[in-house]
Amino acid sequence: MANAPDLTHAEDTEPPPPGVQDYVRPLHIGPVAVARPFALAPMSGVTDSAFRRTVQRASGGTVGLLVTEFISIEGLTRKNLKSAMRMAFDPVIERPLSVQIFGAEIDRMVEAARMVADSGAQIVDINCGCPAPKVVRRGGGAELLRQSDHLARLVEATAGAVSIPVTVKIRSGWSADTINAVDNARRCEAAGAKMIAVHGRTRMQMYTGDADWTIVDAVARAVSVPVFGSGDVASAAEALGRLRTTQAAGVMIGRAAIMNPWIFGQIDDAVRGLAVREVAPDDRLQLLRYFRDLQRERVPEHAVPGRLKQLLARMTKGFAHGTLLRERAMRAATTDEMFGWIESFFAALQTGGLHQWCERAREGMSGHGPRMISASDPDGAEDQAG
Ligand SMILES: Cc1cc2nc3c(=O)[nH]c(=O)nc-3n(C[C@H](O)[C@H](O)[C@H](O)COP(=O)(O)O)c2cc1C
Repeated sequence: MANAPDLTHAEDTEPPPPGVQDYVRPLHIGPVAVARPFALAPMSGVTDSAFRRTVQRASGGTVGLLVTEFISIEGLTRKNLKSAMRMAFDPVIERPLSVQIFGAEIDRMVEAARMVADSGAQIVDINCGCPAPKVVRRGGGAELLRQSDHLARLVEATAGAVSIPVTVKIRSGWSADTINAVDNARRCEAAGAKMIAVHGRTRMQMYTGDADWTIVDAVARAVSVPVFGSGDVASAAEALGRLRTTQAAGVMIGRAAIMNPWIFGQIDDAVRGLAVREVAPDDRLQLLRYFRDLQRERVPEHAVPGRLKQLLARMTKGFAHGTLLRERAMRAATTDEMFGWIESFFAALQTGGLHQWCERAREGMSGHGPRMISASDPDGAEDQAG
């Protein structure tokens, strides 16, 4: 932990603000205890083990529930290496962990869920929200939202086959005129699901528009298992606000945790009535280094810059000359070259040498430097081997 940003506070023993314990409560997903009702949302291409551990570190171990990227049941059961890698985790730091799987075939789902249970993960989650055509065409992801009978059979068979809790993550419906989250949630609960996560958008919305938390609230009122709401929570105050104003038992945070991996610690501060911790530029640099080192342990060197891309892009959003840093770093041919630009940027930020740094960074940018990192689709479905 030598390089970890020290974000601990001396005032650890402050009483929580009045009333907060009425809506911020520990919960259980089946027998699995979740101490804090705030989960890191599953994000394909992002929430790999290194990212999950990075968020845990930045947030001082306060993430209530961690979820993997979605993993293809085809890939898992056919022993695809990429799929197996997606299931890898650190059983001490990443706990409780939910492994999310996607697909449509019942027997294969059952087999994949057994593999998840055997891996030592605490929960297996069925993805019913991925909007990517490649996934939907094969009956998985959001397609399950409009195949409610099949969804119920899938959940029932899976829940009957494993001893760990089975949960589902749904969207509000397929399209604006077929909103059916309440019905799907009730069916999933009856089939044995122990938690329902609801992303308040339809499949047709993909990631556009605003998440509708009235749907989250309606689902939470309709079932007795815990419901986690997902969509557009960007700060500690918003996370608490969603719990205060809806019946949701928990909140999932996705994109905001890429921009701000400290967010769960900040929520914890707010719950305890402390000033929300601030993040200095040096904390960001140290966390990027930590993330890089973790990636180096798990993927081949040539794949490291690709994994750094998302985190760098989001963590430097809003920085003066952040666009130039991202452009320059993305053109680097190796991790070390990429990090050279990152380190020198942060050093210039501290010494006031940004002007010179920018000049240096712009040199040669008009040429055709290697642009090794492609823009990927938000669902990462393109590299789901299936
Ligand atoms: C890059 C990216 C990848 C995602 N991958 C998944 C996934 O694998 N499984 C899933 O259930 N949801 C996935 N989602 C949806 C998120 O879990 C979450 O529901 C959504 O982004 C809304 O929450 P947010 O506004 O906090 O990001 C993904 C979202 C993003 C942005």
